[in-house]
Amino acid sequence: MLEGFHILTVTHRDTELSRIRHYIVPADGDALRARLESLKTDLALDELMYVATCNRVMYVFHTRHAVDAAFRKRFFAHVNPELDAAALEVVRHHAGLEAVRHFFRVAASIESLVVGEREILRQLREAYDRCKRWGLTGDALRLLERFGVVAAKDVYARTRIGEKPVSVVSLAVQEMRRHHLAPDARILMIGAGQTNTLVGKFLKKYGYTRVTVANRTLARAEELAGKVGGKALALDALAEYDEGFDCLIVCTGATEPVVTPELYERLLRGDTDRKLVVDLSIPHNVAPEVGSRPDVAWIEIEGLRRLAAENLAFREQEVQRAEALLDTHIADFPQVCRQRELERAMSRIPEEVRAVKRKALEEVFRKDLARLDDEERALVQRMLDYMEKKCIGIPMRVARETLASI
Ligand SMILES: NC(=O)c1ccc[n+]([C@@H]2O[C@H](COP(=O)([O-])OP(=O)(O)OC[C@H]3O[C@@H](n4cnc5c(N)ncnc54)[C@H](OP(=O)(O)O)[C@@H]3O)[C@@H](O)[C@H]2O)c1
Repeated sequence: MLEGFHILTVTHRDTELSRIRHYIVPADGDALRARLESLKTDLALDELMYVATCNRVMYVFHTRHAVDAAFRKRFFAHVNPELDAAALEVVRHHAGLEAVRHFFRVAASIESLVVGEREILRQLREAYDRCKRWGLTGDALRLLERFGVVAAKDVYARTRIGEKPVSVVSLAVQEMRRHHLAPDARILMIGAGQTNTLVGKFLKKYGYTRVTVANRTLARAEELAGKVGGKALALDALAEYDEGFDCLIVCTGATEPVVTPELYERLLRGDTDRKLVVDLSIPHNVAPEVGSRPDVAWIEIEGLRRLAAENLAFREQEVQRAEALLDTHIADFPQVCRQRELERAMSRIPEEVRAVKRKALEEVFRKDLARLDDEERALVQRMLDYMEKKCIGIPMRVARETLASI
């Protein structure tokens, strides 16, 4: 079974992210299912699992056939006929135990662009479940996925690989919480783009309810305000905003400060309490005079980026420990495969033993049994039942003991 595992993959390590899309199956839903089914049939694969994320595409399959250059060419001609020989050079092929190792490493996020990002495990599980639902997988990939998930969970639980946040948004929110920003604090967000939308998800998660969103395009402010359960405001109307704030979160694509010292004074409306000001924009959208005020705790993007880099370096230090843990799981996997092969081979034994018993009762000893009285016949039956149970159990036990001693 082990020799039949293969992975063909293209990842951020070998090509630009923008090129990965050339190696995916360009279809969704039923169309994707049909394409994968025909890939499986035409390439004579026993099982197939397909994983596509923004950093990688991975074809995990099991086959008894050789996976050589000609096979790979046929495989990708099926995926995308426009891929030429040069394009195939970035495809990595992992086979046998190396395929198992690669799968486990991906699941444990060691192969991720951002090491320790658990999202990949969810993506792998979802990809497997979908392929299973579509009837593309079987026993071999079931074992690979099951043990890969166990190994990855072990890594996440017993190392600190995913511990420290590495995205500036989650770090910003972590810093806000470090400043003890109360859930009922008045939060004023300026900008309603992707970054602030992500900030909004965290605000919701941590129970911040008093949020106002100001944005150049009012409709987008309304959209984000709807998501966080807050109010919306047009950027033009910000100078007239008189509801005060405890925390200002600024993130727009503007190249000049949006929050000037004058606007900041107006927003304060005479409030002298210390404020938290978060500026996630590049370049800064909060004027330096505001950031350096003594009554302002300023969280800005460069500091967050430095923190993100430090945290990423910390995670990468954990990779060695994660690899050592994975090694133990990988070392166990061949045994798991042998055990499963044996179970499959042995699954015939009970039926064969029952057939022997039936033949003994109904043919070989039929006449002898007919001469016995009811009590004697019942005894013979009980003895044969006992023998049947033992005859099924013995080879199973011997096989298990033999495997364990290898
Ligand atoms: N994406 C990231 O991973 C990331 C991470 C950290 C920081 N950043 C920085 O965050 C900022 C915004 O990024 P984003 O991904 O959220 O961008 P985005 O999705 O394109 O959104 C841009 C936002 O900025 C507003 N905006 C653009 N130009 C403006 C201007 N001249 N005056 C006022 N508002 C303006 C837009 O308003 P409309 O809705 O009216 O267009 C929108 O709300 C950039 O400085 C970026 O470098 C991005």
